[in-house]
Amino acid sequence: MSVERTLTILKPDCVKKGLMGEVTKRIQEAGFRIVAMKMIRLTPTTAGGFYAVHKERSFYGELCDFMSSGPCVPMILEKENAVSDFRTFIGATNPAEAEAGTIRADFADSMGKNIIHGSDSVENGLFEANYFFAQSDIVALVGE
Ligand code: RTP
Ligand code: MG
Repeated sequence: MSVERTLTILKPDCVKKGLMGEVTKRIQEAGFRIVAMKMIRLTPTTAGGFYAVHKERSFYGELCDFMSSGPCVPMILEKENAVSDFRTFIGATNPAEAEAGTIRADFADSMGKNIIHGSDSVENGLFEANYFFAQSDIVALVGE
């Protein structure tokens, strides 16, 4: 296994529910190193650019509205096998199907409001990291 980076977003429902601290703590306890992080507010257009892969889907408009409904917190995470391990850690898209103990099982209300995003491949993770962060925003953890 190799060290990978994945991009997560604490979605607007996570921020609104006051869960940023709890979810960030769990992310760190699970061994993911935060190498970039900020709080931003997306617009429907910038949310749409992030989820452009879904633009033909029926839920796209709702997704863009939700993702721009309040502040969110994108982060770049680093770990061995980060992409797949983080998807396991957050649980299934639909919280009703998410494994017990995962972030979505514990905190998400619905398929639409599901608390957290995780990249689905190393390649998409790189696109997503570049969507939010410049190289100079990413801290080097070598030696820590
Ligand atoms: P994400 O990209 O946010 O990590 O979620 P995911 O990979 O688990 O799911 P994906 O298929 O990429 O869908 C992106 C987000 O769109 C909403 N969605 N709604 N109503 C629906 O059928 C439906 N399907 C997807 C979810 O909020 C999902 O996280
Ligand atoms: Mg996805």
